[in-house]
Amino acid sequence: MADVSRPEDQLATAVLAALGRVIDPEIRRPVTELDMIRGVDVQPGGSVRVDLQLTIVGCPAADTIERDVRAAAGSVAGVTAVDVDVSVMDPAVRRALTERLREGRPQGVQFTPDSLTRVIAVTSGKGGVGKSTVTANLAVALARRGQRVGIVDVDVHGFSIPGLMGLTDEHGVAPRPTRVDSMILPPVAHEVKVVSIGMFVDDVSTAVSWRGPMLHRTVNQFLSDVWFGDLDVLLLDMPPGTGDVAISVGQLLPHAEVLVVTTPQAAAADVAERSGIVARQTGQRVIGVVENMAGLVQPDGSVLHLFGEGGGDETARRLSRGQDSPVPVLGRVPLSVPLRAGGDVGLPVVLGDPTDAAAVALNAVAERLTAMGRGLAGRKLGLSLS
Ligand SMILES: Nc1ncnc2c1ncn2[C@@H]1O[C@H](COP(=O)(O)OP(=O)(O)OP(=O)(O)O)[C@@H](O)[C@H]1O
Ligand SMILES: [Mg+2]
Repeated sequence: MADVSRPEDQLATAVLAALGRVIDPEIRRPVTELDMIRGVDVQPGGSVRVDLQLTIVGCPAADTIERDVRAAAGSVAGVTAVDVDVSVMDPAVRRALTERLREGRPQGVQFTPDSLTRVIAVTSGKGGVGKSTVTANLAVALARRGQRVGIVDVDVHGFSIPGLMGLTDEHGVAPRPTRVDSMILPPVAHEVKVVSIGMFVDDVSTAVSWRGPMLHRTVNQFLSDVWFGDLDVLLLDMPPGTGDVAISVGQLLPHAEVLVVTTPQAAAADVAERSGIVARQTGQRVIGVVENMAGLVQPDGSVLHLFGEGGGDETARRLSRGQDSPVPVLGRVPLSVPLRAGGDVGLPVVLGDPTDAAAVALNAVAERLTAMGRGLAGRKLGLSLS
């Protein structure tokens, strides 16, 4: 037991407390909780040596962590010099850490029906209706309301979440997530933890050849090996339609809630309805419709209904058949140049231009989702669907 009355020990205690405010940028916990500080040594005169151990060799966050550790230790009154000794955890320490982060949960899908995380799959019948844009913006809007949010982009053939969330470099390449043993740490963008197939494929043509079993394994791995920590909401950006991925997600997350995105075009209601029905066949519940690409307000105040009108209401009406409560239209997001432009530069419009009409509409959807809570999630309806 250290004699805390010695000035060096008091200083070491103060330095440790300061280090408790250094957050690992990927794991998002204080480094002191992650066994990353092996020791703090204080010499008479106030010179401090911090023994920092990183989780893995080549940790991309290494520079940030070292800098933050140095700054935190240096900020303590009485510290005259800081020396940070960086090493890498030995495998046993790392294994103990990953086990602790999993909190004793067995390996496997983290988002079981009894987990507290609300899972919302964003689907559509047709492609290009704005699922990914809606997903990215809702995630950011929910995170801004203080929720802990993650996105899993399971759109193998058309992943776009890394770009929409600003995670890609100038060549459009997404970062490869850090791995700590079998644990994959999702990159964080705009306070949202994000994982995408786009972070794991070297080129898109590899992904295109994937078939059912490979897709299923990948979706399963995302839900099992990616360490999200405790989340309030997990959004899944689905590929369009009712293919293999939709079926895998249905099997792996039968308690997921489903948000259907559609356009105002009346004909879109047919296909949108189909994707909702397939989701329900696996036990998932359709919680609402977002009508995207709704009327654009012109400078003269008139509204240009480029994609017609009524698709959202019609989709909701049809999806309500076979549910015990009607499926609401949760919002109508107008066509918007700032929304499209925000997507192109990786700054969702709810952050970049919150007064834009589309941003206002998306924020309102986030609000309604929050207000709904997860009260209805996972409720078994026992309906047979033809
Ligand atoms: N309300 C809107 N106003 C203007 N442009 C929009 C709107 N919503 C989406 N877009 C644009 O439409 C295109 C398709 O959107 P997005 O990629 O989100 O659709 P998606 O349904 O995810 O497509 P996919 O089926 O290919 O995954 C994008 O270029 C996006 O910027
Ligand atoms: Mg998409």
